[in-house]
This record gives sequence, C-alpha cells and structure tokens, in this order.
Amino acid sequence: MTGARRFGELGRTLAVVARNLLLGGNVAALRLAHQPRALINYVNENLFLFQTLADRRPLPQRSVFDALNAPRDVTIRLANPPTGAWFHAIASYAIDIVSLCLLTRVLQPKVIFEIGTLQGYTALHFALNAPEDATVYTLDLPRGYDGRVQLATTVVDDEHIRSSVQTQRYVFDGYPEAAKIHCLFGDSATFDFTPFHGRVDLFFIDGAHSYEYVRSDTLNALKCCRPGSVIAWHDFGRVGVNGVSRWLAQLARKYDVVATPGGSLAYLVVK
Ligand SMILES: C[S@@+](CC[C@H](N)C(=O)[O-])C[C@H]1O[C@@H](n2cnc3c(N)ncnc32)[C@H](O)[C@@H]1O
Repeated sequence: MTGARRFGELGRTLAVVARNLLLGGNVAALRLAHQPRALINYVNENLFLFQTLADRRPLPQRSVFDALNAPRDVTIRLANPPTGAWFHAIASYAIDIVSLCLLTRVLQPKVIFEIGTLQGYTALHFALNAPEDATVYTLDLPRGYDGRVQLATTVVDDEHIRSSVQTQRYVFDGYPEAAKIHCLFGDSATFDFTPFHGRVDLFFIDGAHSYEYVRSDTLNALKCCRPGSVIAWHDFGRVGVNGVSRWLAQLARKYDVVATPGGSLAYLVVK
C-alpha cells in the first residue's frame, strides 16, 4: 500500500472507531476505557449483536441447516489447536466455524478452494469434514513476502498479512487429514484461477477484507464454481473497517446470498 493510501485508510479507520464508540458504547463500556482494544471489540460486538437480533442486516438470515435442507442431525469434527482457534470471547466466531463444518459435511465437496490460509485453522476444518478423496486448496501470500499487494487493504488486513507471512507452522501439520491440503501462494488479485474454472464445489473467501479485494475474489470464485456449489464469505456484518458487507449487499441484488443468524458467515448456493 502506498503512503497516501495508508494515510487515507488510517483516517477512515479512526472515523469508523469513533462512530462505533458513539453507537455501540454504553455505561458498561466505560469500565473498559483503560483497555482500548477490548473496548473496541465490545462496542463492535454490541452493534453486531444488535443488527443480527433486530434483523437489520442487508442479507436475509438463514442457518445452514435450513438453507441447504440438511438432515435433522449432522456429525461434525472440530479441532482445538494451541493457536488460531475460533472459540474465544467473541462468540460469533464459534458459530462461524460450526457453520463452515456443517456446510462441508452437507455438501460433501470434492474440491474446496480457500483464499486466506493464515495458520490453517479453517483449512484444517475443511479437511476434517470433507470426504476422504477431497482436496483443499488454500491460497495466501508467500512466506517472507514484503506485504505489497495489488488492491487496497484494511488496517486489520495489514496486521494479518504481517503475521501470515511469518507463519512457520500450520495448525494442520501432523494431522493425517493434512494430506488433503495443498498450499498455494500468490496475491489473490493476480493469481491465475483458470485451472480451477468450473471445478470448485466449495469456495471460501477470507483473504483481504477491503471492498476491492472481496469483489475481485468473488468474481474469481463465481468463475471457479459450478451450479450446486457454494461460495462462502467470512466477516459479513462486522462493524469495524471491512468491505464485506458493502460488497455483499450489492451482490445480493443479483444473487441469493444469505447470512448465518448470529454469525458472520455469508454464503450463496450457485445456480
Ligand atoms: C483473516 S486471515 C484468514 C484466517 C484463516 N482463514 C483462518 O483459518 O484463521 C486473512 C488471510 O488472508 C491473507 N491475505 C491477505 N491478502 C491476501 C491476498 N491479496 N492474497 C492472498 N492472501 C491474502 C492474509 O495473509 C491472511 O493470512
């Protein structure tokens, strides 16, 4: 990112933080005043919860059970690695990983494509829940990369990129199911997706979260998917700086995108 772009992004981030403090803050928030990050998480979660409870989200809310006509009970596999797990104080992450596992179990995808490996937590869950003969392709920027990417990124994306390019070990290392996982490296805006066109059964978008990246990743995913496959996005409805909600609200004018109630997973069954 150029200096001017980064400066603009910082300004936007501060404006969003101020708006969220104003809208999501309350008397209890004052007790977190000495822990700025916890305070920001608290007000953001208040607003997230309000929007899902009040059904004020730009997408209809449907659980994976309902939207995919799943059987009445489904067994999923969940892992508890020492780092990167989505079971923490922000409960929507736990809903998201359960929904992703459910999606994988119900769809039985043979080819899964993920953008955004980080430490491999979601890749591991795809591998644990997909059929024996499935392949999980997961794309991230190369290790040791200088962090310069093609399109705009958010401040949080830059943090994730810094951490992912230093990743030494994946959480799936040592699991027998890791044999299903193939790591790919490149910038999703310039990566050559043509070998995957029309071949992907489940496409998960969790790379950079700017409007520009989520839009570009979605347009590539649509080319890779075939009728009956599913595209899923992480971090829909989160009120920090992220372009996922804006892009998906736009996409929903043409496609039946839905969101998990209480969670930040959005998904679309491709027709
Ligand atoms: C939110 S993290 C992904 C979390 C992950 N799915 C997990 O299991 O925890 C976002 C990841 O996307 C990667 N990323 C960001 N921009 C990217 C780009 N332009 N191309 C490919 N990967 C990118 C980051 O390096 C980071 O690892």
